[in-house]
Amino acid sequence: MARERLDKLLASTGLWSRKEVKDLVRQGRVLAGGVPVRKPEEKFDPQTDSIQVDGAEVDCAPFVYLMLHKPEGLLSATEDRTQKTVLDLLPPHLRRRGLFPVGRLDKDTTGLLLLTDDGPLAHELLSPKKHVDKVYLARVEGKVDEADVAALAAGMVLGDGLQCLPAGLEPLGDGSSCLVTLREGKYHQVKRMLAARGKPVLALKRLSMGPLCLDEELNPGEWRPLTSEETGKLKRAVELS
Ligand code: URA
Repeated sequence: MARERLDKLLASTGLWSRKEVKDLVRQGRVLAGGVPVRKPEEKFDPQTDSIQVDGAEVDCAPFVYLMLHKPEGLLSATEDRTQKTVLDLLPPHLRRRGLFPVGRLDKDTTGLLLLTDDGPLAHELLSPKKHVDKVYLARVEGKVDEADVAALAAGMVLGDGLQCLPAGLEPLGDGSSCLVTLREGKYHQVKRMLAARGKPVLALKRLSMGPLCLDEELNPGEWRPLTSEETGKLKRAVELS
């Protein structure tokens, strides 16, 4: 990665303004590779130079990738005038970074939501051409059967003429729950497809997006950074690395 000015790198974390970084440097509180930084405009490579403020390592990676277990009741948006969004779950320094959800889950849908500020990766993950499967666990009214499996596999046309790509449907247990696999993300798609089959969705949870699986250690509302292995797998899934 290219070398960047220290004030830019530290300010991009959202923890300090450039002016505050200047003061930190003047006060000798910033070390790079164990050596005090003299000027805020000195350049470093965030991937190879260890940067510390007040003795604590600061992650200046160019992008942030977070896995959120979205709870019910929050909008998958960056802001809303009246309702809470998933970004309200994050601390202020991360809210300032310009993170956004990769794709939307409905307000009442739970499960895996990736939050990032990496626009190119988000764009690729959402592109139907990249065939990144999204797997949902649905609980339905009634029971899904083999006719439903065949209908989704054929590619459904919904009431408003929307042509869906072929989708996977795997009944679980007695068929009142199922796994639905989509390669696209049209508005209310799972709910609309299953409603069109006469099996309205009662609860919906996203379990995975390509190689990224919801960490079941995360309770609804909790999040964690992706591991470098998870980030690498996602990038490889869309051939970005
Ligand atoms: N399909 C839906 O119907 N809702 C979601 O939130 C995601 C996929």
